[in-house]
Amino acid sequence: MIEVNKLQKYFGQSPAVDGVSFSVEPGEILGFLGPNGAGKSTTMKMITGFITPTEGTVSVCGCDIETDKLSAQRKIGYLPEGTPAYEEMTPRSFLGFIAEVRGYDKSQRVDRIAAVTETMGLEGVLDQRIETLSKGFKRRVGLAQAIIHDPKVLVLDEPTDGLDPNQKHQVREMIRGLSRDKIVIISTHILEEVTAVCTRAVILANGKIVSDCTPRELEEKSRYHQAVTLALESAEDMPALVEKIQNLDLVNAVEENELELLVIPEHKDGSLLPHISNLAREEGWQLAGLFQEKGRLDEVFRSITAEGSHAEH
Ligand SMILES: Nc1ncnc2c1ncn2[C@@H]1O[C@H](COP(=O)(O)OP(=O)(O)O)[C@@H](O)[C@H]1O
Ligand SMILES: [Mg+2]
Repeated sequence: MIEVNKLQKYFGQSPAVDGVSFSVEPGEILGFLGPNGAGKSTTMKMITGFITPTEGTVSVCGCDIETDKLSAQRKIGYLPEGTPAYEEMTPRSFLGFIAEVRGYDKSQRVDRIAAVTETMGLEGVLDQRIETLSKGFKRRVGLAQAIIHDPKVLVLDEPTDGLDPNQKHQVREMIRGLSRDKIVIISTHILEEVTAVCTRAVILANGKIVSDCTPRELEEKSRYHQAVTLALESAEDMPALVEKIQNLDLVNAVEENELELLVIPEHKDGSLLPHISNLAREEGWQLAGLFQEKGRLDEVFRSITAEGSHAEH
């Protein structure tokens, strides 16, 4: 497992990371969220031993990243921000180089390259210069170098950044496939990625953890959690429906939007949807659709990170 204890990093006068503590267990895919400049990359660089903390400690599977750096780094695969360097190399020569740095002899290197080539679907591009590859394939080469030594821990800094929707989907599927029996820490500012990939979401703002819970719990914090949308067949029905619905005790607010009514519940106990559905049947409302929301992560994210910055100032 990973234990991060009171990590702090100063660049000059102000802290980029300011007292971050958490631990991660095998099987967890931890999503690291936060606005630009929140300290995600800096935290990841300290966890992987690429920069030294001003204060605090990191232990990776029992090895301290400062005092036992080589053992700790053997257990970690790291995909830094952006695309890999070595543009003039081919994936085969680049991966061979990384495998050599990781201490594999020649025949082991061949085996390791074959293994990660298969996992990352690099068969067709192994001997093509990296600079000529699409962004999606470059990212896969980056992931391949991160897993060449089959590490217990994967630290991936914005692995889907800059990819098109299909490439994003592919890379997410790969990460999910890799995550079995590993610890994965992935930073992202794409909120849908957190529900799609992560088992846990840690939100950073101004170098501090401002939220640590499951993606579902995050959705439950939304004002729109269990909100019910009624799609109407005709705008004429709107005023009568709004009045009936506003009078319900279960209702906190009603928002009108063209042919849709968004009903926000007073309590998050799951009672609003069945109630509205019964009411619609009793009143004979002509509905084109009726559905319940899980919640809006963008709204939760904004309110949590804004609170974080208020605490700072
Ligand atoms: N090498 C550096 N020198 C000075 N400031 C830095 C350096 N690296 C990061 N920072 C600053 O630290 C803060 C956190 O940056 P970073 O960890 O990259 O955030 P994130 O990855 O969440 O966008 C930012 O204000 C950034 O400008
Ligand atoms: Mg970053």
